[in-house]
Amino acid sequence: MKIIEEEQVRKLLTPEKCMDVMKKTLMDLELGKCVMPQRLICRMPNTAALGFMPAYTGDYFGAKVITAYEPNMGTGYPSHIGYVMLFESRHCTVCGMIEAGSITEIRTGCVSAVATDLLAEKNAHKMAVIGAGAQARSHLAAIRLVRKITEVTVYDKNPAASELYAEEMKKKYGISVKTCGSVESAVADADIICTVCPAKEAYLTKDMVKPGVHINAVGTFSPTTREVASDLIGAARLYSDHTPSCRKESGEYLIPLKEGIITESHIIGSVGELLLGKVPGRQSKNDITVFDALGLAVEDISSAELVYLESKK
Ligand SMILES: NC(=O)c1ccc[n+]([C@@H]2O[C@H](COP(=O)([O-])OP(=O)(O)OC[C@H]3O[C@@H](n4cnc5c(N)ncnc54)[C@H](O)[C@@H]3O)[C@@H](O)[C@H]2O)c1
Repeated sequence: MKIIEEEQVRKLLTPEKCMDVMKKTLMDLELGKCVMPQRLICRMPNTAALGFMPAYTGDYFGAKVITAYEPNMGTGYPSHIGYVMLFESRHCTVCGMIEAGSITEIRTGCVSAVATDLLAEKNAHKMAVIGAGAQARSHLAAIRLVRKITEVTVYDKNPAASELYAEEMKKKYGISVKTCGSVESAVADADIICTVCPAKEAYLTKDMVKPGVHINAVGTFSPTTREVASDLIGAARLYSDHTPSCRKESGEYLIPLKEGIITESHIIGSVGELLLGKVPGRQSKNDITVFDALGLAVEDISSAELVYLESKK
């Protein structure tokens, strides 16, 4: 059995390779080739969310066990810590334990990039990120592979985090990265918005965004939390990573549904269905599109499989 730590995951799981694997995985999920029991997310007494996320992808299966712990923000400890335990399907032996914080970070940005490629306007080039942490970094790393991003605006409730992000990203990609003092100013001119912070309440409303914008709503993953307000979800074409999971777990969908602002048919489909051509994408340049990402165990297992196979080369 191999133990593969973060440094090696970051070398082996490049956004290019990960994006290809995510496309195949999301299609396989829709084609019934993967099995993904509902995940278990338990709230611990110290406020950590402990997730147990099992999936079977064919030749491999396993589970990611991970904590999401907000108080780690700004301490130097990552907010997501855990491992993926990977088994092979033939004899059920354990192949590896693969560091999961880095897998989560990279695969999530890549899935949003796949959605962005399918849904954003072709000439979209201004990107806003709300929350300047690990996800803001992985989203820019992956989305710049599908759209020519020339300008980034960033808002974080901690201005030092925005400053650090802007400095790092300018240096890494040689593009303009502007820190903003509010969500409104960060998103006002954006073609692509990535909401990647652990907000408790919706903060992104319809009047803040341009017609034609594409939004990746990534930061929250429970029925009672969300980043995007009901009026904006109501005005948007809504896509999921996995519609049955979205119907059970997503505040972005469940809250406006409960308020009567949308109906069950408001979810047009999943990214896998878009890739398979089973559902329509953007219909006009003024459409607002929202990709609601909960994060899926199949994404973790197929990423872990890729890392494991690459590590054996
Ligand atoms: N949907 C998915 O698949 C998925 C995957 C991974 C992470 N997440 C979620 O995405 C969010 C970001 O994850 P991360 O790894 O980048 O975390 P992180 O700790 O690296 O960074 C989060 C950043 O958000 C900022 N922030 C917190 N609350 C804010 C607010 N109300 N407004 C603006 N900024 C705020 C923090 O200061 C911090 O800089 C978390 O909620 C995480 O659980 C979702």
